[in-house]
Amino acid sequence: MCGIVGYIGEQQASPILMEGLHQLEYRGYDSAGIALASRGELKVFKSKGKVRNLERLLTAQPEGTLGIAHTRWATHGEPSDRNAHPHCDTQNRYAIVHNGIVENAAALRAQLESKGVVFRSETDSEVIAHLIAAMQAHSLADAVRATLRLIVGTYGLAVIDAQRPDSIVVARNGSPVILGIGEREMFVASDVSALVRHTQQVVHLNDGDVAVVRADGYETFTLDGGPISRAPLAIDWQFESLTKGDFSHFMRKEIAEQPEAIRRVLSGRLETRFSTTHLGGLELAARELLEAKRVKILGCGSAYIAGCVGAQLIEQLARIPAHAEPASEFRYRNPVIEADTLYIAVSQSGETFDTLSAVQEVKRKGARVFGIINSVGSTIARECGRGIYLHAGPEVAVVSTKTFTSTAVAFALFAIYLGRLRDLSAANGARLLNALSALPAQVEAILAQEDRIASIATAFAKTRDAYFVGRAAGYPVAMEGALKLKEVSYVHAEAYPASELKHGPLALIAPDTPTLVVLPRDDLFAKNVSTIEEIRARRGPTYVVTHPQPLPVAVDGVIEVPKSEPEFDPILLNIPLQLLAYHTALARGTDIDQPRNLAKSVTVE
Ligand code: G6P
Repeated sequence: MCGIVGYIGEQQASPILMEGLHQLEYRGYDSAGIALASRGELKVFKSKGKVRNLERLLTAQPEGTLGIAHTRWATHGEPSDRNAHPHCDTQNRYAIVHNGIVENAAALRAQLESKGVVFRSETDSEVIAHLIAAMQAHSLADAVRATLRLIVGTYGLAVIDAQRPDSIVVARNGSPVILGIGEREMFVASDVSALVRHTQQVVHLNDGDVAVVRADGYETFTLDGGPISRAPLAIDWQFESLTKGDFSHFMRKEIAEQPEAIRRVLSGRLETRFSTTHLGGLELAARELLEAKRVKILGCGSAYIAGCVGAQLIEQLARIPAHAEPASEFRYRNPVIEADTLYIAVSQSGETFDTLSAVQEVKRKGARVFGIINSVGSTIARECGRGIYLHAGPEVAVVSTKTFTSTAVAFALFAIYLGRLRDLSAANGARLLNALSALPAQVEAILAQEDRIASIATAFAKTRDAYFVGRAAGYPVAMEGALKLKEVSYVHAEAYPASELKHGPLALIAPDTPTLVVLPRDDLFAKNVSTIEEIRARRGPTYVVTHPQPLPVAVDGVIEVPKSEPEFDPILLNIPLQLLAYHTALARGTDIDQPRNLAKSVTVE
């Protein structure tokens, strides 16, 4: 959740580090800090709040061609100037930035205090700086390795030594660290988005790796000091996609990018000759797929909900039982892992800790797992080793929009592929491929209705509570619509299967509680209309997202989406709900791209 960035080279480090912090701000942002090594001394600046607060402290550009910086999302110790990273030893010689949790911090702190060390923060991380200073080691790398052998917990760590300003030592265990390779300069970050402005050549460290990063290159070691090799990887993200362009928010920009994102996930994957799809990264032989008796999908947040859409697609098109479950729940309930189940991990960032842990549990018990991931080379992508990349480009807003849609489309591709190996006819395969190709233009048509959606948002902006209901394929759409609304606008929104309404929430329907009904023209249309009647009988305002045809019931607002094939209707029905959440948030004046208490990439438990 927190972000790390580091620089060593010939340029002044502070502008590069500050720019990197801005790119990482979405990860976690209750405080920020920077440390530079210059003329044998450390210069450290820290501030509570957003990165711009830190910027205000740096009136004159502090000198130094070596530095590390951090954005923090508090776990141990409240957000404050003191608790912000970097942390230093008593002599202010070493500075560290740390993501993760030192689980034995209290014991280590007590030992250090008994030797006279005075702590300056309440964080678990500060022990690392004091331990490094206490090691009588030949090199900074040796001191870091010796320290890490005492630490129980997780870390993405970067350390500098003001008296030996020739390197940054970094280490990884459970929290990502990536090196960026430049021309006589090197970068360090917890997330590629902080690197893409400078380089497209990156090195992902694995858990247990320690790297010594110098201006002219890097060396990687194990925790015991044995050399290991970590090869660079080229990334395809462009810096322009990390700027807002003409949009006032990343969320709005990423909603607008969806037609293009869909084109990218489809690109090269439609095999019209055989009315199927081509998924090169799956690396699963047709026979292995045929052996699968069940599919289990794991993810968190919107990735989990996209998995619910995916499970329905797989069941319908391939006729295999498929089920999505929050990865966090799955990993803690000692799940039965079956060799004939195919597991799928879904993650935009590829770094979500709970999803990664679920993948590791599945692998440890010997089953097959593949990923549906956006971030190329990310930890979950590497842990799975095979899967489908979304190629949606970076998603910067904390809430997921374009990657939700791209994930649903990736599931459609997989479901068609699996279906065509089984009972899905060529005619049906062809029908579905045509429908996929039509999606980008249909999304554009939905986006063109923004004004109407914005006017409906005024009703949601005034309310405290809202319900989102849908049946079967409409239910995950309701779930994602409610999640989006609560995340960005802070309106309490709850999703319910429409059929369950009368088993509880109907008690809360009142003239000031709007309900959004997902109302596709499918074989459940009449049942959903009855649900609307039930709500209206309690004088609850109802809004519907539906297909263009006259409605047999009066409602308070209608949003129409173009008709796809019934299997893909959920993908389109979700799009207006993103705009509804966005405009509700806009009307309420919330921090849309960085909602309170949330982070884009949740790399802690
Ligand atoms: C966080 C974000 C969500 C996201 C979830 C999973 O909770 O706020 O928007 O859906 O993590 O993230 P992932 O990167 O694994 O898709």
